[in-house]
Amino acid sequence: MIKASDKPQIIQLPKFLDKRGNLSFAEQFKQVPFKIERSYWIYDVPGGEDRGGHAYRENEEFIIALSGAFDVVLNDGKQEWTFPLNRSYYGLYVPKGMWREMKNFSTNSFALILASTPYNEDDYIRDFNEFKVEVKA
Ligand code: TYD
Repeated sequence: MIKASDKPQIIQLPKFLDKRGNLSFAEQFKQVPFKIERSYWIYDVPGGEDRGGHAYRENEEFIIALSGAFDVVLNDGKQEWTFPLNRSYYGLYVPKGMWREMKNFSTNSFALILASTPYNEDDYIRDFNEFKVEVKA
């Protein structure tokens, strides 16, 4: 059984504006509401491409559009949200138990994802109908 305990939300990150170039950061248990066990990134995505049609049973994520733009579409089995990400000083918190898709990548976009668990293929639900059954259980 999976249960989404929290709502997804956009978290504004600290931003140091400087004529030498700007700086932002994120720390675990501060801007990121979990212990960071893993990070991965998605890059060289052809413009307009989609990725990540799946849910995690346990893993939570924090997604930042470091460059470019893309949409994160989330569904908890009842409600759907679309979060357009296009600034490097916003992070999207994705609770566990959410179907999540990443859509409409702009050319040269760069997504950084901080994750709460090590990679585990058994944590994935890759079929939306199976997700709907598990989320209702
Ligand atoms: P996947 O999560 O399926 O990407 P997407 O949902 O965006 O299509 O990951 C693609 C491949 O990368 C998959 O074979 C597993 C591997 N992978 C890891 O080995 N470690 C990781 O942390 C991640 C995210 C993926």
